[in-house]
Amino acid sequence: MVSISRRTFLKYGITFGVFLSVPQILNYCKGSSNTRADYERKDPFDPEFLSENVSPIMKAIRIGITAPNPHNVQAWKFKILDDHSALLFVDEKRLLKDTDPSFRQIHIGQGTFLENLSLGMQVLGYSSDILLFPDGKYTTSDIGKKPIAKIILNKQSDLIRNPLSGFITERVTRRSIYEGEDLTQDDFEKIRKDSAVLYSELKFVQRAGSEKLIKQLIAAMQVETDTKNTYDESRIWFRYNDEEIGKFKDGLSLRATGVSGIKYFFARNFFLKPGTESWHSDENKKAGMEMFSSQVESSKGFIFLKTKQNEIIDWVQAGRDYLRLHLATTKNGFALHPMSQILQEYPEMDTLRNEFESTLKPGEKIQMLVRLGKSDYHYYSPRREPQSFITG
Ligand SMILES: Cc1cc2nc3c(=O)[nH]c(=O)nc-3n(C[C@H](O)[C@H](O)[C@H](O)COP(=O)(O)O)c2cc1C
Repeated sequence: MVSISRRTFLKYGITFGVFLSVPQILNYCKGSSNTRADYERKDPFDPEFLSENVSPIMKAIRIGITAPNPHNVQAWKFKILDDHSALLFVDEKRLLKDTDPSFRQIHIGQGTFLENLSLGMQVLGYSSDILLFPDGKYTTSDIGKKPIAKIILNKQSDLIRNPLSGFITERVTRRSIYEGEDLTQDDFEKIRKDSAVLYSELKFVQRAGSEKLIKQLIAAMQVETDTKNTYDESRIWFRYNDEEIGKFKDGLSLRATGVSGIKYFFARNFFLKPGTESWHSDENKKAGMEMFSSQVESSKGFIFLKTKQNEIIDWVQAGRDYLRLHLATTKNGFALHPMSQILQEYPEMDTLRNEFESTLKPGEKIQMLVRLGKSDYHYYSPRREPQSFITG
C-alpha cells in the first residue's frame, strides 16, 4: 500500500504541472464526505431497497453482507430455503490461504455476518433464530460443504430493538491517521456497556504505555510484508482504481486505506502500478510500511477481544461480538481499525505471535485486536450484488 509525503507530493505536483478542474478535485476528494459514490456499498436500509418486492430473507442477506470481513473477500454463500429462511456457508473460493491458513478469520467473518443480519432485521421488525452448525459436527474440511448456520426470520410485533442496530448503515473500518484525545477508561466502559458482548472478553490498552505493543504491531506487519505469499495475498485482493472497485465490488484499495483527495490522485496515477513486480518492489514495501507505522502510531487506544477457547464455534461467536464492538465504537463516535497481523497463524509469524500470546492462559486466544481514535475519513467499501451470493 502506498503513502506519499508532503514533500514528494509537492515535488511531483510541480514536476507534472498538474492543474485539476473542480469536478476532478471533487472526484479525487471523495472519501472525505459522507456521500456515497456508485462503487461504494449501498445502504441496506435505503427506502428504495426496502420497498422492493423481494423476500424478507433477501433483505436480511442484503443487510448481513455489509458486515466487516477479512480483506473484504465476502466469503459467504447462501442456500435459500424459503422466504424466511436460508443456510449460510463459507464460500470456499474466497479463502485467505496465506494470511489465514487456520481459517480462523474467515469464520470470524461468518459471525459478523450473522450478528449484522440479526441486529439489522430488528429494524424491519424481525427476530432471527440462528442455529449454528445445523448439520452437526463441522471441521475445516467441511468448508463450503456443510452450513455454518441456519437462519430463520420471525416477524414480531412487540420486538425491542437493540440501539446498536441504528449504526449498521454508518459502520466502516477506518484506516486513516487518527486525531483527538487518547481514549479514557470511561470511553472504554461506555463502549463495553453498549457492545454487551456475549461470548468474549474485551480488554482495554491505553495509549500511554503502549509503546511495546506498537513496536510489536509494526514488526508483525514487516513480517507480513517480507513474506512473499502473505504480501501477495493483499495484491490479489487489491483494486487499483475506482473502475476496478466498481467492477469487482470486493477487496481492498487505496481508498479503503484512508488515502483520499490529491494524495490519492498522485498515489494512483504516479506511484501505484499494477503487477507483481511493482507490488513487491522495495519502494512499494517501504511506502506501505511507512503508512502502516504512521497509522499505528496515531492510535489513541487499543481493544483486544479474547475468547477462553479457540475452536471454530469460538471464532464464529467472536465474530458476532466483534460486530457488536464495532457498532458500539461507532455509536460512541470512535473510529476503529483491526490489526490482525500479529494474531495470524502462518509459520513466519510464529515467533512474534508466540511472544505476544505468552501471557494468555492455555486455550485462550485474542481473536481481534483493534486500534481506536477519531477520524472524519469515510469510505464504504463495496459489496457484491446480493443475488451473486446465492447458490443452488
Ligand atoms: C477477522 C477480521 C480481520 C480483519 N483484519 C484486518 C486487518 O488486519 N487490517 C485491516 O486493515 N482490516 C482488517 N479487517 C477489516 C476488513 O478489512 C474490513 O471489514 C473489510 O475490508 C470491509 O470493510 P468495512 O469494515 O469498512 O465494511 C478485518 C476484519 C475482520 C472481520
